[in-house]
Amino acid sequence: MATETFEKVKVLIGEVEAAEPGNEEELEQFRIKYLGSKNIIKPFFGAIKEVPNEKKRAYGQLVNRAKVAAEEKYQSLKLIINSNNEEKGMGDLDLSAPAEPIEIGSRHPISIVMNNIVKIFERIGFVVAEEREIEDDWHNFTAMNTPPDHPARDMQDTFYLKDSTERLLRTHTSSVQARVMTNQKPPIRIIAPGRVYRNETISARSHCQFHQVEGLYIDQGISFADMKQTLLYYAREMYGNDTRIRLRPSYFPFTEPSAEMDVYWGLKDETDYRITKGTGWLEILGCGMVDPNVLDNCGIDSEIYTGYAFGMGIERQAMLKYRINDIRLLFENDIRFLRQFASAR
Ligand code: DAH
Repeated sequence: MATETFEKVKVLIGEVEAAEPGNEEELEQFRIKYLGSKNIIKPFFGAIKEVPNEKKRAYGQLVNRAKVAAEEKYQSLKLIINSNNEEKGMGDLDLSAPAEPIEIGSRHPISIVMNNIVKIFERIGFVVAEEREIEDDWHNFTAMNTPPDHPARDMQDTFYLKDSTERLLRTHTSSVQARVMTNQKPPIRIIAPGRVYRNETISARSHCQFHQVEGLYIDQGISFADMKQTLLYYAREMYGNDTRIRLRPSYFPFTEPSAEMDVYWGLKDETDYRITKGTGWLEILGCGMVDPNVLDNCGIDSEIYTGYAFGMGIERQAMLKYRINDIRLLFENDIRFLRQFASAR
């Protein structure tokens, strides 16, 4: 009995090894026969109780070999049959058909305007400086001549990091001035584009995040006239050769004297009185001579060096350029809005 059973298992292994299912259907039949829930190997496992003790081990190994052989055969044939099927599928493909169009993204209007501004200043020797958006109080305020109890802090509602009075989201790119001045020796001539944050109610005109470009020029003998000429150059590059500018006295803690610069926009777009409030003049930036306190705070000798700085918002300029009437559109990333700038420069 025992020898007979041994022989049967060997025959079974031979059958498994010789089987050649050639398609999915035959493979499935193979699976049912040798691996299915009522497969023909199973009874041989059951028969182990009839095998004399001293032969049980050898018998068990043999039956197991049959099972492993069936599994291996099944897996390898499955791979072959599947890949054959895939190749056959290729036959239906029309390789000469035009490809699906690949959608190419476009630059965001903010990036376009920001890049334009940066390029204008790069042409006259300014170098890009980029810095962190999570700042500390010192670089954002204190170094910029705005100590903790300074009323000007109210001008910029600040987002502080959770559980911190030290770490905040920078409220302006002026913090980059402090970063650069504490790390570099004059002459310094940088342009710093980037995102800033303020705790403001979101409306058509203002948002809690926006973008600025900061400029800083420190050297010996830099004057207000140098600043004015540079800003006039900027306005003309950006808005056209006959653009007029005016500087109005203003106040910023980090500059003395301080000014705001307007460009003459005219009244041509003045449909609802909102753009220039009926004056024709449009404010685009704040500027001034760097306050000696700021230089000293950052380790630059204010007896030797002077300089000017300016900061401008990007959103306002992008909205003017592209006639966008709601700032929120710039942050929603609606593809229908963004597509309109596909060929913008
Ligand atoms: N940081 C100012 C703001 O966010 C803008 C500014 C004004 C920057 C005057 C300057 C400057 O560098 O000199 O409102």
